[in-house]
Amino acid sequence: MSIAEKFVSMEYGPAPEDSKEAAAWLERHGYRFQHFIGGRWQAPAAGEYFDTVDPSNGEKLASIAQGSAADVDAAVKAARAASSEWRALTPHARARYLYAIARLVQKHSRLLAVLETMDNGKPIRESRDIDIPLVARHFYHHAGWAQLLDQEFPEYVPCGVVGQIIPWNFPLLMLAWKIAPALATGNTVVLKPAEFTPLTALAFAGICQEAGLPAGVVNIVTGDGATGEALVKHSDVDKIAFTGSTEVGRAIRAATATSHKRLSLELGGKSPFIVFEDTDLDSTVEGLVDGIWFNQGQVCCAGSRLLMQESIAEVLIAKIQDRMSTLRIGAPLDKAIDIGAIVARVQLDRIRKLVDQGVADGATCWQPQVTLPARGFYYPPTLLSNVHPTSIVAQQEIFGPVLAAMTFRTPAEAVELANNTAYGLAACVWSESINVALHVAAQLKAGVVWVNCTNLFDASCGFGGYRESGYGREGGREGLLEYMEPAWFKNAPALPAEKQAPPEPELDEDRTASDANTPPIDRTIKLYIGGKQARPDSGYSMEVHAADGRLLGEAPLGNRKDIRNAVEAARKATSWAKATAHNRAQVLYYCAENLSQRSDEIAHRLAAVVGEKQAAAELDLSIERIFSYAAWADKFDGAVHNPPFRNVAIAMNEAIGTVGVICPREAPLLGFLSLVMPALAVGNTVIAVPSEAYPLITGDLYQVFDTSDLPGGALNVVTGYTSQLLKTLAEHDDVDAIWCFGDGANAAAAKAMSVGNLKQVWTNEGRAIDWFNPKLAEGRWFLEHATQVKNIWVPYGE
Ligand code: NAI
Repeated sequence: MSIAEKFVSMEYGPAPEDSKEAAAWLERHGYRFQHFIGGRWQAPAAGEYFDTVDPSNGEKLASIAQGSAADVDAAVKAARAASSEWRALTPHARARYLYAIARLVQKHSRLLAVLETMDNGKPIRESRDIDIPLVARHFYHHAGWAQLLDQEFPEYVPCGVVGQIIPWNFPLLMLAWKIAPALATGNTVVLKPAEFTPLTALAFAGICQEAGLPAGVVNIVTGDGATGEALVKHSDVDKIAFTGSTEVGRAIRAATATSHKRLSLELGGKSPFIVFEDTDLDSTVEGLVDGIWFNQGQVCCAGSRLLMQESIAEVLIAKIQDRMSTLRIGAPLDKAIDIGAIVARVQLDRIRKLVDQGVADGATCWQPQVTLPARGFYYPPTLLSNVHPTSIVAQQEIFGPVLAAMTFRTPAEAVELANNTAYGLAACVWSESINVALHVAAQLKAGVVWVNCTNLFDASCGFGGYRESGYGREGGREGLLEYMEPAWFKNAPALPAEKQAPPEPELDEDRTASDANTPPIDRTIKLYIGGKQARPDSGYSMEVHAADGRLLGEAPLGNRKDIRNAVEAARKATSWAKATAHNRAQVLYYCAENLSQRSDEIAHRLAAVVGEKQAAAELDLSIERIFSYAAWADKFDGAVHNPPFRNVAIAMNEAIGTVGVICPREAPLLGFLSLVMPALAVGNTVIAVPSEAYPLITGDLYQVFDTSDLPGGALNVVTGYTSQLLKTLAEHDDVDAIWCFGDGANAAAAKAMSVGNLKQVWTNEGRAIDWFNPKLAEGRWFLEHATQVKNIWVPYGE
């Protein structure tokens, strides 16, 4: 074709990226890769290898070592051996290593981009212009955090040895998101890449060697889910960081329950892409292309649910179809390709199956007329309209280039539809009215909200989900905290095991007779649910004894039903979360004031259990602690980030929602308030289970709360046997987080039983906390657990 003819037809010609360097790299390694352990390549103990394949043509690229438990053990040992020297380095020395890695990523950027595209099937345009630059940015940003570590986090220590398991959709980027903060904070790492896409992690091992990183600081063990499982279960790993499917995230939560391993999970999503009628539709369509067809839709935060205001639905659908017809699908190494290959046949089959199910559910399927390459795994861009909100394609992550479209009428309905999912990773809001967009953004249950933009990421902005999209953040200051612990907490002594509660409450017919010689019963308290005192459903109560065995009174024996009532009351108390921070502060100050008025009387009662000295100290400190959180309520602010685009990212500290709190035994009053107050201060509603040893003391607080303008349902108190109430709370799907401060067995139970809705779990790991020391028992550490960060990205400029 002549140039003149080309000008007329404007047809794309082939624009292939040169893959010679990548081919030479594969050849240099003999098309066969071992594990990277202790700074050198090590053959797999079992001698097994698997193939990694180019999904654009189905051809084998290389043989990859299949990691066994023995390989994982060798890698963990290497990481442990390197740990003390690495953490003892000065922050500046660690910063230099991270900086060197960032420079080397840039130096090898084209090789890394081509390898990524060959192994994963994503368009070279994306790996070259998005993935790899973001990898470099992540290491630069974290070189900075390494440098500032001692100044910014003086009281923190690294977790230790970290196991990291990553997926195949952004192989090197996910590696960077995991390794950069781990190294910056002084941890050593064993990373397992996804079985479909191990090559860039192995190239990264070469970069670690080139940077002179001390042996064992980064170890890469390749393999499938079984290798990942061996890493999760290894007893000498201190933290697991996982990105992948919600199903595997659940399995990992269950598998780590009985250990002290820290856990962060970045799981699936079904993110809404909300379009209001006042938006600029053409820009919106371009945003949508990036939202759902970027990386073939294999993106955890893909805008896969299009929610359109009814008035513009028809015209928007037409524009989307027009644009879909211009998307170019084909060989991903071609620089003018928009949609490349799906990562593997199994994923392709999964997409097909889900789309078929969606159509069977009544959706209308539209695909442009495209010719798919004869070889390799391809799926055309797909639009499903008339999707019912309960259809499988509106609820389940498809992880393919498939958009499910629905309509709404009002902003309130948009929010309701958007939140009608178990996930909560990301959301997009398109509207020319910044007021509407921010109002909606604030109501969305999602860790990231992009206003008039989509799929933007930066190392300075935390990324992570609400609800079943997981917990923990990657990036930003909050991402660093996932890799560190307060030094005192790591070394806190274990609490003695608590006595087991009886399996079922029993009515003791002889109780009155057998207690004939004890002093008169002090009092009988009730439960506190929805701002009212309530009798327990069981009709039973439990005896409460002083340290010397005297009967002090009876506390109601709350059961499952009471917890359910309390959760319902907490969910209804929406006014507390909506109250201004100033308002919440006022209520907490008022609680402190009212407690101080009754302090003598309450201290007297508490003295019967903990002695006069502790009782007096608990009362004084309790009033002070409430004051602290009243003070914090309007000061635990978020941040405004300046990512390197024309955007601001507003990082908001949002309340988690409804929090179940199991209070410690050691300090019945102070322990209760030390946990309940930070949760309330930031706008959570709470169901608290007071110390089993002396629950009566909370009965004294009901009137304090009643007279302090705390709205009914913001705080609910259910007394009873800790282990029984913990089970109902941890398993309850309407509870968003569980805090458990008891012995080791309770901590493990809280983690294991929270798997259902993947609620956030925070425990004392069965360790003793000195509730009397404000440096340990109050402040940011508590508030950080009471909140989750939502980043709202807002563009500026024309
Ligand atoms: P997956 O969750 O099975 O794999 C992710 C990583 O976990 C891989 O490295 C895998 O080897 C490892 N793994 C698997 N089982 C494990 C176990 N029991 N213990 C420890 N590690 C384990 O995801 P898969 O099967 O590759 O994709 C299935 C679906 O998951 C996708 O269709 C998509 O819906 C979702 N997914 C979500 C991702 C996200 O970023 N949120 C990423 C990848 C997949």
